[in-house]
Amino acid sequence: MTSASQAQPPTSAQQIAALEQQLAEAQKMTALGELVSTTTHEFNNVLMTILNYARLGLRHKDEATRDKALQKILDAGQRAAKITGSVLAMARNRSGELEPTDLAKLIEECLVLLERELSKYRISVEQQISAVPEALANGNQIQQVLLNLLINARQAMPSGGRVLIKLDHDKSSGTVDLTVRDTGSGISAEKLPRIFDRFYTTKKGPDESGKGGTGLGLSTCKSIIDAHHGRIRVESTVGKGTAFIIKLPVAKPLAQPQSPLPLPISPADFSMTPPLASS
Ligand SMILES: Nc1ncnc2c1ncn2[C@@H]1O[C@H](COP(=O)(O)OP(=O)(O)OP(=O)(O)O)[C@@H](O)[C@H]1O
Ligand SMILES: [Mg+2]
Repeated sequence: MTSASQAQPPTSAQQIAALEQQLAEAQKMTALGELVSTTTHEFNNVLMTILNYARLGLRHKDEATRDKALQKILDAGQRAAKITGSVLAMARNRSGELEPTDLAKLIEECLVLLERELSKYRISVEQQISAVPEALANGNQIQQVLLNLLINARQAMPSGGRVLIKLDHDKSSGTVDLTVRDTGSGISAEKLPRIFDRFYTTKKGPDESGKGGTGLGLSTCKSIIDAHHGRIRVESTVGKGTAFIIKLPVAKPLAQPQSPLPLPISPADFSMTPPLASS
């Protein structure tokens, strides 16, 4: 006999929703894993520089060599601080909440983590960053998008090339536009409609840096941008390269109440979260 209070089995729509949630979590973990391995690698490079120059300074007693060694140690220490700063910045706002976000700063933080890897693959990075208003975004998620796009760009240029990162304000659409353009292989017209599909990949598996090959990167980018009420589109020419263009809404103060005496805008009108306290 079945009792009326017995739990109903999940419907297929509920099962699909649960699986989609699990996939989104899986991509987040993959992105995080890639970030950890990149950061550890970068940090190790900096540490090697510090150790080698400290040894050099101890071996050579002359002032010029010691000054040079100390300068190199200082530079490496500053780079290490930048790397940890970027990781801390990525750790903030894990909630998924949208807030006014400085995309130029986000780009800079991403590049601190990827610039060595890109230069190792002989990829130069050009930036065209205009003064833009803050976008309504979740910094952590947009960084995940940016990392996915930059890793794809790097993988499309196995013998080197150029990446252009552009930031513009499109006043007519009220958006901040972020473009990532590469000079890589390009995508053929028959593959292009599939690239945002889940699990669509042309890669054989992770490359020697342990990245790529699940086919979740772009589908995650699309879900994130959709959740931001933004747009992502692609332009590509085989043999010339590919550009991904993202449009995110500008963060505006909340609408003013219809009052005959307009109230001044207070910081509370922007749903800002306080910055992480530094310790
Ligand atoms: N910048 C690019 N240049 C050329 N092809 C690209 C570029 N970005 C994406 N692609 C194509 O789109 C496919 C899907 O990309 P997507 O990022 O979703 O998956 P992936 O990179 O194969 O695996 P991962 O889940 O690890 O990101 C890629 O396999 C590749 O064929
Ligand atoms: Mg990818």
